[in-house]
Amino acid sequence: MWEYTDKVLDLFYNPQNQGAIEDPNQEGVAVVYGEVGSIACGDALRLHLKIEVDSDKIIDSRFQTFGCTSAIASSSALTEMVKGLTLDEALNVSNKDIAEFLGGLPEAKMHCSVMGQEALEAAIFKYRGIEVEHHEEDEGALICSCFGISEPKIRRVVIENGLSTVEQVTSYVKAGGGCGSCLAGIEDIIAAVIDEKETTAARIAAEIADVQTRGPLTMVQKIALIQKVLDEEVRPVLIADGGDVELYDVDGDFVKVTLKGACGSCASSTATLKDAVEAKLRLRVLPTLVVQAV
Ligand code: FES
Repeated sequence: MWEYTDKVLDLFYNPQNQGAIEDPNQEGVAVVYGEVGSIACGDALRLHLKIEVDSDKIIDSRFQTFGCTSAIASSSALTEMVKGLTLDEALNVSNKDIAEFLGGLPEAKMHCSVMGQEALEAAIFKYRGIEVEHHEEDEGALICSCFGISEPKIRRVVIENGLSTVEQVTSYVKAGGGCGSCLAGIEDIIAAVIDEKETTAARIAAEIADVQTRGPLTMVQKIALIQKVLDEEVRPVLIADGGDVELYDVDGDFVKVTLKGACGSCASSTATLKDAVEAKLRLRVLPTLVVQAV
């Protein structure tokens, strides 16, 4: 028997915001839904959002869920959490936030919070007409045929949640929870992710040490290094949130960039420039760089 928190049980017995949202055909208001899971696999969630177009705010959210206690409670929690948020703010809601809102979930039920986060992303990206790159990547080689889980999906959940055991992967995405013939494959993916993480950390540490000891860069070296850091360390983070950044020009210590996608229309774009782009370039290329949006 699973140990559930009072909050989980409350939202299971008294779910909030259950049902669909009818399109009001009202000017300035849009309705969209995102869908994940499948009834054949035991869990399916359709998350509905009503959006005020001008402010980009979620003004209502409802859910239709087929699943267990945790799936119902996670879906209900999510609808409460996203109401009143802008779409950019909602994209920052992680599966960990959903679990925390509920006061925790049994690890074996964490897949319910993952399902909520994926349905939210699916709805927002559908509304924005943006292709969900990492979901598309989920269509890679099939590792767990019992639950239809691909290698990219396992990699993603391992990276995003810092998982280190096969049991954790089973809890988060169900892979490995059936016949067990994929367990070795899941173990290999975890080992590869940990190995890549350690190799990347060692490489970045060496490069940061190099920034402090190397001589001045030529302009060509500076531009090449800025582009490399943007491509490898900045853009993947922004793309995961529906945005992107492009290098426009470099003039002395001034790095001119264009914010794209969700970042271009985001109210926090100044913070993105300073925290996500400038701080990273100062650390990795030159401490005196100033990033400007053009
Ligand atoms: S193939 Fe993964 S549990 Fe059967």
